[in-house]
Amino acid sequence: MTATITDVQTFGNYIGGEWQPAASGATFENRSPANTDDLIGHFAASGADDVAAAVTAAAEAANGWRNTSAIARANILFKAAEIMASRANEIGRELTREEGKTLKEGVGETGRAVQILRYFAGEAQQPSGEHYPSMNPFTLLYTIREPLGVVAAITPWNFPIAIPTWKVAPALAFGNTVVLKPASLTPLCAVRLVEALAEAGLPPGVLNLVTGSASAVGDPLVKDERVVGITFTGSNKVGADLRRLAAERGAKLQLELGGKNPAIVLADADIDHALGHVLTGAMWSTGQKCTATSRAIVDRKIASEFTAKLSQRITGLKVGDPLASDTQIGPVISEEAATRIVEELDSAAKSGSALLAGGGRLTDNGRGNGHYVAPTLFGDVDPNSYLGQEELFGPVLGVITVDGMDEAMAVANSVRFGLSASIFTRDLGKAMTFARDIQAGVVHINSETPGAEPHVPFGGMKGSSSYSREQGKAALEFFTQTKTVYFDPPPGA
Ligand code: UN1
Repeated sequence: MTATITDVQTFGNYIGGEWQPAASGATFENRSPANTDDLIGHFAASGADDVAAAVTAAAEAANGWRNTSAIARANILFKAAEIMASRANEIGRELTREEGKTLKEGVGETGRAVQILRYFAGEAQQPSGEHYPSMNPFTLLYTIREPLGVVAAITPWNFPIAIPTWKVAPALAFGNTVVLKPASLTPLCAVRLVEALAEAGLPPGVLNLVTGSASAVGDPLVKDERVVGITFTGSNKVGADLRRLAAERGAKLQLELGGKNPAIVLADADIDHALGHVLTGAMWSTGQKCTATSRAIVDRKIASEFTAKLSQRITGLKVGDPLASDTQIGPVISEEAATRIVEELDSAAKSGSALLAGGGRLTDNGRGNGHYVAPTLFGDVDPNSYLGQEELFGPVLGVITVDGMDEAMAVANSVRFGLSASIFTRDLGKAMTFARDIQAGVVHINSETPGAEPHVPFGGMKGSSSYSREQGKAALEFFTQTKTVYFDPPPGA
């Protein structure tokens, strides 16, 4: 199954090694957020029957995959990486078309997915258990890491190839079988990932894809008692529901949720350097990263210069067709998101924040058929206001003015989230204080808040996560369970 840009195709679920329509035959449309006339494809609108079939396929494949050597598993991931690398431009273009981030970001994200597959192919071959001394000198006492079994991966639209890959690759590397439920707004990237792995030789049932809505697919999937682990990236609201559900039925759960990520700019910072990073951290991918910078916490001594320059840069951003080579900012993901963000901008302006750039929809210059929101900057943001506290998940940045480091830290930590955080300063002592005292799982000194290299742990503190980490060595923690073996020789041996 290979789609071209011009053909409108129908894509099925992948269950037990077969591409197949939803049991009901129903489909849903996937349209580009940049231009709703651009129909990308029809996808299976699945339901509980499809989920049950996928979980059955995954459960039946679990023993065989667990008993496949880690080397063989690694080879399949390596091969999938090469297949995906050979299609990176094509997949990146499709990603841009269905998600709306710029082509550079779409192709870049596909490259990241390739890197993740390679990394976990290598990781599968690393030592994972431990050997211990025992009270009995003849006891061989050791631990091994075993797969959980069937894992559900529920992934968001904002990194439609990287996040499915960073959940699926370690799950498979460590011997689990998977049911992947991608966001309905970006199912094509998930199809491309599954195609690469299937072509690389993944046995039937080891990875299954079920597309459809959260209520029709996500719900029955997470409630299925055969699903032992659930990994989810998305909203705090869904995260809270999953916490309750997983606690009730004893499933292992990993959550990556929202952020309200601060960038502190101290008076001694290189203003132009800080400005560039705050701008890209807040606006690239149209601000739709859970790691995006949404609060610039700026020392009063430089606040007016910083804010004036920033507002000029934000006003000058080129917003438009994400496939065009000179576009810097694409649309937001959906009409619903655009409407919500604009309402939140209006209420921020009404409740006292100063609108310095942007502030509404963009519908001129061919943007009328897309979900375009102007990159927006607010000044004088009250740290306790809605804009100061809640994630808008769009191209919106608020500047909070503070007097010095202590106030900056207090403000930075005064939210319920704790995903990523940056500080811009030349003062090593303040940088060290920040790294120690900031409540965030990913900390940047003199660089922007987004970014997640595949070989290091990624995740947030407080309401941003579930005290677990993804990627790197941390992935082994979630996707395996430990068995401790006391191995004594038989008597007389
Ligand atoms: C990044 O900052 O490049 O959904 C990755 C998100 C995060 C991933 C961010 N889980 O935005």
